[in-house]
Amino acid sequence: MCGIVGYVGLNDSIDVLLGGLSRLEYRGYDSAGVAVIDETGTIRTRKRAGKLAVLAGDLKSGAMETSHTGIGHTRWATHGAPTDGNAHPHLGDDGKLALIHNGIIENFSPLKQELLDEGFAFESETDSEVAAVLLGREYRKTNNLREAFQNVVARLDGAFTLLAVHENEPGLVVGARRNSPLVIGLGDGENFLASDVAAFVEYTQNALAIGQDQIVSITPDKVEVTDFFGAPVEVEPFEIQWDASAADKGGWPSFMAKEISEEPDAVANTLRGRIDADGQVVIPELNGLDELFVDINRVVVIACGTAAYAGQTAKYALEKWAGIPVDVELSHEFRYREPVITPQTLVVSISQSGETMDTLMAVKYASEKGAKTLSICNTQGATIPRESDAVVYTHAGPEVAVASTKAFVAQITALYLFALHLARVRGTQSAEVLAEQSAELLAVPAKIATILEESGVVEELARWMSDSRAVLFLGRHVGFPIALEGALKLKELAYIHAEGFAAGELKHGPIALIEPGQPVFVVVPSPRGSAMLHSKVVSNIQEIRARGAKIIAIAEEGDAAVLPFADTVIRIPLAAPLFEPLLAVIPLQIFAMELAIAKGLDVDQPRNLAKSVTVE
Ligand code: M6R
Repeated sequence: MCGIVGYVGLNDSIDVLLGGLSRLEYRGYDSAGVAVIDETGTIRTRKRAGKLAVLAGDLKSGAMETSHTGIGHTRWATHGAPTDGNAHPHLGDDGKLALIHNGIIENFSPLKQELLDEGFAFESETDSEVAAVLLGREYRKTNNLREAFQNVVARLDGAFTLLAVHENEPGLVVGARRNSPLVIGLGDGENFLASDVAAFVEYTQNALAIGQDQIVSITPDKVEVTDFFGAPVEVEPFEIQWDASAADKGGWPSFMAKEISEEPDAVANTLRGRIDADGQVVIPELNGLDELFVDINRVVVIACGTAAYAGQTAKYALEKWAGIPVDVELSHEFRYREPVITPQTLVVSISQSGETMDTLMAVKYASEKGAKTLSICNTQGATIPRESDAVVYTHAGPEVAVASTKAFVAQITALYLFALHLARVRGTQSAEVLAEQSAELLAVPAKIATILEESGVVEELARWMSDSRAVLFLGRHVGFPIALEGALKLKELAYIHAEGFAAGELKHGPIALIEPGQPVFVVVPSPRGSAMLHSKVVSNIQEIRARGAKIIAIAEEGDAAVLPFADTVIRIPLAAPLFEPLLAVIPLQIFAMELAIAKGLDVDQPRNLAKSVTVE
């Protein structure tokens, strides 16, 4: 939530900031603003409610003078409506200082009162302005932006990344972070700070990950990182594995269309280098952890949203292959009860961004309680993998559209790899069985490519159904989390009421929702995998069809049993049952995207959402 970027160097900072913000807009898009120190040494600020394009248009029409130091922000509102006034940057020290913030300052109320009592005035309803005014007050005492930051962070509770500039120190941007993301981009005669490497990858692929509770200052040729008390700390360098073109639309009408088209690669890249010549899964990042994996007696998977559905899908494979009990929990529910955790519990977090606050807090909580933690993450340098004992990266490439698609299939792939790795280490499956499963995994990218080539029927269906008021999704076994994910995609992209159910649960209540014409997607399991499961789903289809439901079946090639009862059949290639979710979800993603397009909606930036949920 909220994207922030800071720049010092020879380029025009407005260009760099707007470019960076356009790549961070997925983090929040209800208002945006910049502050720069111009060549006369004066802070100039411009901020506007609405998407970044509004600010960009404004900057074009009323050109700002060239500048080489600046900060920029794209907002997802928490405190105060998305208005020009509440947009960042906020000012302090009589307008000589500008500050941007990502996170929530939980004690802003008493701090604001303290400042009001001292005669300071406020222009916004935000918690963030309190940090700006406080920083201004501390600057007056110290005349040093870094020292002023040390004083300020000592007073703040909550989660924050703050960046600020002061007219008295042109050529300097100072930042601080606690539980919100911040990375450094190392350029040649220029340096960057941002929520995500996407903001500066156009200029440099060399980055530094900043730890928790650290302060950073950048000048064109120097980067300094300290703890909150000013003691220097080591920072971890890393090279960004993708270039700027990976985060562009590349000719596609939307990031979402592009990212769906990249799903075969997302799976293939996640598999690369992790299956040996004998078909055995060996994950190099997990070397040296065999003893730990033998020792654990339970796995708890924590995640939110789509990532949680990836976890629910993988539970079946983990239990079947590695013979270990698996619980899947929403991070925010796990964190605020008293889960039973022992040193033999492995807590596996799943997060595309690696910054989801609910999941980060749950990982920290699990560590404090003595669990071992493993992160499945798509973003290098992110906080959750840094807070975990081990990480298995998904290699889906940057995912920009707010609704997750390619990251989901990459997450299931990584979790399946982990399940096979665990099964090998724990000796729960023979080498032959493990090799058969990895062969199935290796075949997935080509099967997804086939579904993408034949997506015309789904696109047409979405156009027909664009007036639907509610859509239901049913599945059993691994088809159940796919039904949940199909419903989530439709809700968030097309704003249609959608619900996913376990097909077996129908008769326990949800069947009352069925009325003539009600569209129901049914994920049909392969009859080759389990004839019994298949026939039960076919019976469920008949039960709802008898009550007037309009059936859209997602079934494997050649499954004729569904034909008499389905209004539309969407075919997926043959696969072993556990691998069907990686295929069945693709038409559901395309359906949600196409229906949203048919309704004239923005599929990359749905209303009220932000891609990276960095507040609890
Ligand atoms: O970055 P994460 O994977 O931790 O994000 C988790 C959820 O916020 C995310 O999957 C969300 O549900 C998406 N909007 C789903 O499309």
